[in-house]
Amino acid sequence: MATKKPAGFATRAIHVGQEADPLTGAVSVPIYATSTYLQEELGKNKGYEYARVSNPTRERLERNLAALEGGIAAPVFASGMAAINALCAMYKSGDHFVCGNNLYGGTPRLFNQVLSNYGFEFTYVDTSDLDAVERAMRKNTRLVYVETPTNPLMALSDIRAIAGIAHRRKAELVIDNTFMSPYFQQPLALGADMVVHSTTKFLNGHSDGLGGVIACSKPEQAERFAFLQKAAGAILSPFECWLILRGVKTLAVRMEQHDRSGRIVADYLSKHKKVRAVFYPGLPSHPQYKLARQQMTGFGSMISFETGSLGNARKLLKKVRVCSLAESLGGVETLISHPATMTHAAIGEKGRRAIGITDGMVRISVGIEDIDDILDDLDQALAAT
Ligand SMILES: Cc1ncc(COP(=O)(O)O)c(C=O)c1O
Repeated sequence: MATKKPAGFATRAIHVGQEADPLTGAVSVPIYATSTYLQEELGKNKGYEYARVSNPTRERLERNLAALEGGIAAPVFASGMAAINALCAMYKSGDHFVCGNNLYGGTPRLFNQVLSNYGFEFTYVDTSDLDAVERAMRKNTRLVYVETPTNPLMALSDIRAIAGIAHRRKAELVIDNTFMSPYFQQPLALGADMVVHSTTKFLNGHSDGLGGVIACSKPEQAERFAFLQKAAGAILSPFECWLILRGVKTLAVRMEQHDRSGRIVADYLSKHKKVRAVFYPGLPSHPQYKLARQQMTGFGSMISFETGSLGNARKLLKKVRVCSLAESLGGVETLISHPATMTHAAIGEKGRRAIGITDGMVRISVGIEDIDDILDDLDQALAAT
């Protein structure tokens, strides 16, 4: 008997959780803007009681994102940081986390300035070095927390190998997959236990809503996060859920275009005489180009490059016109930023120096505008440096 072929990624993005509304046939998921639900009599309802606990628009998004990451559930939260905070709330005082030493700056800010006050212990290591991960593991290590590629240095970590290290020590591995999106990287299939995203980025794709998600591989994780949504309440609003449902319908085509333009911009920058270094896993000169080809199906559009000094970075960022100087990434518009004073200000100069983030480094999230316009803009801005 022929087995049914599973639906492809773009088909799942457009159809799972996005089925037509059974009441009206509306092809776009309705936004259920309600805080509570009518009960016919005591103890009798249609499965919904209060919107912090459950909301039909949110349920649709959670089903959709679970299908895209290959998870069994994907609870969504009010922002990427709210999702990461909920993830940490699974653990207890005295638990130890091994973390990448080049995470999005807000993540170590949460770990060091909030959660360490509650008895959590953190060790930061270069997770692209498997021996360093192994050495950092302790008896009380419960979680290995990895971003790959890293922000903004674009260093990769071997997901399958780190999952092996974590599991041998009875710890779990979580991957922040924000930079690649599930379109280019599937950490659960490589052995990770959970995946987090700032949906604010590529999943939403249009720079118009915050959000976060944790894709789960085990029922007990899903139960725990559903409980945390109810108990702690940092859930995503129905409108923001709808924005992501709309955004993911074009995730596959957007990611293809981001990747195409990302490769062209990285190649252009690598040949520009004023650019001292380019960090992009799709360049054959990237030290982990081979690993990038093994564990990712594309390279994406996140690129960092070295202008040589704070003065040069400042001049370039003042001159850009098509590229927008702004925090964030993953939108249809090209966003350009300065990690030292923006995303990574929170880790301090010493922290930045330790991992190689310089004052001359610029990060670009290549959007899907016409590629010639992006290149012309960078050309005229680099001329000013
Ligand atoms: C890789 C990564 N993870 C997490 C976050 C936090 O997400 P949010 O801004 O949605 O809270 C960000 C934000 O820039 C990020 O870049």
